[in-house]
Amino acid sequence: MTSQTDSARVHADRDPNRVLIFDTTLRDGEQSPGATMTLEEKIQIAMLLDEMGVDIIEAGFPIASQGDFEAVTEISRRMQNAVTCGLARASKGDIERAWGALQHAKRPRIHTFIGTSPLHREHQLSMSKEQVLDKIRETITFARSLCDNVQWSPMDATRTEADYLVETVALAVECGATTINIPDTVGYTAPRESAQLIAMLREKVPGLKDCVIATHCHNDLGMATANALAAVEAGARQIECTINGLGERAGNTALEEVVMAMKVRRDILPYSTEVDTTKIMKASRLVSTVSGFNVQYNKAIVGKNAFAHESGIHQDGMLKNAETFEIMRPEDVGLTESNLVMGKHSGRAAFRDKLAQMGFDLGDNAFQEAFVRFKALADAKKEIYDDDIVALLEDQQTSATHSRMRLVSLGMVCGTEGPAVATLTMEIDGETHHHETTGNGPVDATFRAVKALVPHTARLKLYQVHAVTDGTDAQAEVSVRLEEDGKIVTGHAADADTLVASGRAYINALNRLMVRREKSAPPVQAAE
Ligand code: KIV
Ligand code: ZN
Repeated sequence: MTSQTDSARVHADRDPNRVLIFDTTLRDGEQSPGATMTLEEKIQIAMLLDEMGVDIIEAGFPIASQGDFEAVTEISRRMQNAVTCGLARASKGDIERAWGALQHAKRPRIHTFIGTSPLHREHQLSMSKEQVLDKIRETITFARSLCDNVQWSPMDATRTEADYLVETVALAVECGATTINIPDTVGYTAPRESAQLIAMLREKVPGLKDCVIATHCHNDLGMATANALAAVEAGARQIECTINGLGERAGNTALEEVVMAMKVRRDILPYSTEVDTTKIMKASRLVSTVSGFNVQYNKAIVGKNAFAHESGIHQDGMLKNAETFEIMRPEDVGLTESNLVMGKHSGRAAFRDKLAQMGFDLGDNAFQEAFVRFKALADAKKEIYDDDIVALLEDQQTSATHSRMRLVSLGMVCGTEGPAVATLTMEIDGETHHHETTGNGPVDATFRAVKALVPHTARLKLYQVHAVTDGTDAQAEVSVRLEEDGKIVTGHAADADTLVASGRAYINALNRLMVRREKSAPPVQAAE
């Protein structure tokens, strides 16, 4: 059992305008089809979130799989400042499992939830209003007997009858929940309604004044950020969000958006967070690499074009005064100002300096490997830009964490005459294997060769190539998404050779599929 300090800290001694940032990239974010992450990747993300000042990290759903249990356990051990949170349905078994995984946390939190809307009660749970109330009473009381920091969520709150929602929230508060989270599970609400809901609950449930009210918005109608901020204006003091807005369906509120909105528009949103915004780009890149979800170019704050100025008028204004067309400084989100070109004459010190400017702090071994890769790239490509370095590091990270098999070499004969012929050498579990095969074009031949060496039944759902920079010598960044028995995995790779990148991305996806298969996942049922 932890001390009272944690739950007290979240409301008693805080600045009333301080908004807690609850990151659920590793739980709600990882639930996005295809965004599976390995244990090492989850730990890496959690460590960065902790370092950047996120208050609460929802590390997983321990009952969902052994992998989730281990992730919450390992993250709990490592968090220095952040509260580690584990999700549990409204069942004692779930709560015990979450608590088991949180044992090593300096500051644990159990997050338990149950559907409260008519649709969820009738169709998902087959429970009456009274039965749901009984479950709330039983499970929150039980969770509080284990942990003094308990968050409760009425799932689909925004489609729950107002008077019933009041009843459930009042009961949860009475049973000892310290944070009450109001989820817009299906991304249905709109800003004014989001604010009204929080205001109504504060008025009708007086006990809420001793709890933190949280907002958890999905982005189905593109309003998640606006809805979260509206909830804060009405009194919510915890925003649940994810890096890059990752999450179920259209995703969750994006951490970078709410944090920067409160920073840039302090005049009208006078709220503060502890997030070190200069780490935002680093977190965005890491999550994008690990999840295999590219960030759309025009994504607010972290998109490639978020600080790019193309039109003549804009460029002219920017040269005269950056504030003409920029409402925040690129360095505030961790973008280095210059896109200083590097090349094959750049030495170790310059490369280390460049990495530091870009917010990457690599250990000695990782730095050495990155430097070797940088030199190899500089031999193949005259000018190396920031984006090349990001792609290179992402590629290094991806190969490091999924190494059961790797591409050793790929030869290709292709062109206008006859079918393409791929000659592939792979290392699989430490052994070298070769295969030569034909295909309908070089990518098809490459993928057929991989499949001959690693037979599988996964179906290719996506093959995507994009050039990291301009120019015909640009690195190709390839994403491959595979599906097997409803499990979706995505692999990524970057290389100056598009076919090598394609083969490596495919192999990377297969490596992830192995990890996915190894995860024993008992089915997650509706709350019992
Ligand atoms: O969207 C949702 O309702 C959730 C709950 C588990 C909080 O993710
Ligand atoms: Zn959610």
